[in-house]
Amino acid sequence: MKPFVMFGTHPLFGDYAEAIHACGGYLSRIIRNIKEPARPAGQRFEDRLERYHDWLNRQGIHRRVEVSSLDDFSPRIDELFVFGFWGPKQLPLSEHLKKRFGLAFTSLIHPAAHVSPMARLGEGVVVIKGAIIAPNASIGDFAYINSGASIGHDCDVGPGVIVGPGSAIASSVCLARGVIVGIGATVLEDLVLGEESYIAAGAVVTRNVPAHVMVAGVPAVEKKPFFREALVLEADAEGRDRYIVRSSAISRQ
Ligand SMILES: CC(C)(COP(=O)(O)OP(=O)(O)OC[C@H]1O[C@@H](n2cnc3c(N)ncnc32)[C@H](O)[C@@H]1OP(=O)(O)O)[C@@H](O)C(=O)NCCC(=O)NCCS
Repeated sequence: MKPFVMFGTHPLFGDYAEAIHACGGYLSRIIRNIKEPARPAGQRFEDRLERYHDWLNRQGIHRRVEVSSLDDFSPRIDELFVFGFWGPKQLPLSEHLKKRFGLAFTSLIHPAAHVSPMARLGEGVVVIKGAIIAPNASIGDFAYINSGASIGHDCDVGPGVIVGPGSAIASSVCLARGVIVGIGATVLEDLVLGEESYIAAGAVVTRNVPAHVMVAGVPAVEKKPFFREALVLEADAEGRDRYIVRSSAISRQ
């Protein structure tokens, strides 16, 4: 089994872990870069990690994941590297890790997804079980295609895009960098979804969507401005690199 190192974590921890195992690996280390936001009991990183350890035990594997901070990280031989969170937040961190350690990031393609051999995938792409990627679609670096989503032929999916479970993107759609498509949304063919736009759950998009707006409904209409979280690099008092989340996911202007 191949040892995977995961940078950062997200509530979808179980989906990442499942995809790692389905790809013949196991989670050897988790490197934490920022403090987790407050979450209810049972939904914290430690709870999810405990459930992963329980599952490993039930498989007869009595190994525990090593958890450490970015300050203590250095790569080890034979390790594969993935992110455990998604979206534009990871882009500055991946640049930093590439420059400092020369890391390359593995794509996680669940074997129960169907990715056309004629599709093109960037670095660090995650495709969860049941997703379909049609011929000549192009999937940008660190995009996350969730379970059962389908990406039509000739789509151009930008870096850091998230496509929610069961969403259907028709052919030749351009999803610019950082777009989020909510669960069960439909996007008709030949449209352009502007940078960091948000398509609400269940929306049917029939027209182009400008950058930085949230659209919802059937047919989808503009509801409000939207800005994704940014992660910026700053030095702390001791001069160590710190990644800080700068803005809220949904602007309430
Ligand atoms: C888009 C979303 C994030 C908006 O959340 P929010 O900022 O709390 O939105 P608000 O409650 O302020 O809603 C703003 C407006 O959009 C409407 N709206 C929000 N989500 C909607 C939806 N899915 N369908 C229809 N209308 C929606 C609200 O009714 C409100 O309309 P109004 O201003 O006419 O009254 C959320 O509704 C959503 O769809 N999330 C996706 C969840 C998902 O897919 N999760 C799986 C990811 S793996």
